[in-house]
Amino acid sequence: MDQVVLNKVITAFTASFHEEPLVVFSPGRINFIGEHTDYNDGYVFPAAIDKGIYLAIGTSSDNRSEIRALDFNESMEFDVFRQEQATQGSWRDYFLGIIAELNKRDLPLGQIKVIFSGTIDPGSGMSSSAALENAFVFGLNELLHLGLSKNEMIYISQAAEHHYVGVKCGIMDQFASMFGLEGAALFLDCKTMKSEKHSIDMNGYTILLINSNVKHTLADSAYNQRRVACEQVASLLGKTTLREVTLTELEENNQKIPLKAYQKALYVVEENNRVLAFKEAVDRKDLKCMGELMYQSHKGLQNNYEVSCEELDFLVDFTRNKPYVLGSRMMGGGFGGCTINLVQSQQQEHFIKAISGAYYKRFQTPCTIINVRLSDGTKRIK
Ligand code: GLA
Repeated sequence: MDQVVLNKVITAFTASFHEEPLVVFSPGRINFIGEHTDYNDGYVFPAAIDKGIYLAIGTSSDNRSEIRALDFNESMEFDVFRQEQATQGSWRDYFLGIIAELNKRDLPLGQIKVIFSGTIDPGSGMSSSAALENAFVFGLNELLHLGLSKNEMIYISQAAEHHYVGVKCGIMDQFASMFGLEGAALFLDCKTMKSEKHSIDMNGYTILLINSNVKHTLADSAYNQRRVACEQVASLLGKTTLREVTLTELEENNQKIPLKAYQKALYVVEENNRVLAFKEAVDRKDLKCMGELMYQSHKGLQNNYEVSCEELDFLVDFTRNKPYVLGSRMMGGGFGGCTINLVQSQQQEHFIKAISGAYYKRFQTPCTIINVRLSDGTKRIK
C-alpha cells in the first residue's frame, strides 16, 4: 500500500467535499507468460501487483457527478443518467464507459463524486486501464449496493474498454486485477474461465520490470488488427478460436493461410503450449526453465506476432548471456511499455546500473526500473 498516495486521495476528497469517502485500491498486473492469448480463448499466467489506482468515492446530492484525476490535474462533470460521448483517448472514457455499461443493465445508479490517483504510468504495459475500470465499478458497487459479483464486474470493465475506449481487449487484465492473490500468480484458462493459484517461489531471484518509456502511436489499432487476423485464421480452419487449433493442424494447413497470418497463428498456438510448460516449471520451482520460456515468448512476439519494438528488443537482448538473468521478455500488448525480467537478487544493483547506462547511451532517454510485489486484487480499503 502506498500510504502517501492513499493519504493524498483521502485528503483531497475531504478538503473538497467535506465528508469521508469510501476508498478502493485496484492493482495493475504483470504477466509472466501468455501474451495475446486471452482473446484467442487461450491460457495466461498473470499476477496482480502492489501498484495501481487509489479511488475515493461518495454520493453527490447535486444533479451532476464529478470526477477528478489528481495526477493530470483535470476533472470532468457529467450526469450518470445521460449517455455521454466518448472523448477519445482520455482517462474520462474509462469512467463514461463503465457508467454506460451499468445503465445498459438497468442498475440503480445515483450521482457521485470521485477523486483518484495512481502509481502506474499509463502506457507502461502494467494495465493501469483495467485497474481504473475495476476501481470504479467496484467503488460504485460498494457505494450504491448494486449487488454485482466480482465476475460480473470484470466483464463490465472489459465492455467499457471495448465500447468506449475502442480496444477489443481480452479478459486477462481485468481478471488479474480483480482476483489477484498475494505472493501468487494465476493460471487462467480463458475458454473455461477456470483459474488456479500458483505460489511463486523466487528462490534468490527478483522480478524486475524495465519500462522502456516509449508508447508507440497506433498501438491500439495494431492490437485490434492482431485480433482480427487470429479470428480469420481460426475461421479459415473451421474453428471458433485459435485455442481449438493444434500445432499439427496448423502446419498441415500451411498452404491455405497467407504467410503473415500463419506466423501470427503459429505464435499463438506455441504461446499456449509455453504457458502450460511454464505452469509446470513454476510448480517444480524450475526458474531456469521459466526464464527460457520467457525468452522464447519474446522471440515469438518479436518475429512472428510483430508487436515488439526496437527499444523492447534492445532491453531483452541486453540480458542475454548474462548468467544472473534467467529470462526476459516484453510484457502486455506491446509496441512499448515494459519488459519483465528474472534477475538474481544479489546481482540486481549491478544489472540495473548496466542496463540503464546502455539504454541511455543507445536511445538518449532513460528507462525506468520498477520493483513489484505480487498482491491481492481489487478491494475496499476504507
Ligand atoms: C493488453 C490487453 C489484454 C491482453 C494483452 C496481451 O494488455 O488488455 O487483454 O490481450 O494486451 O497479452
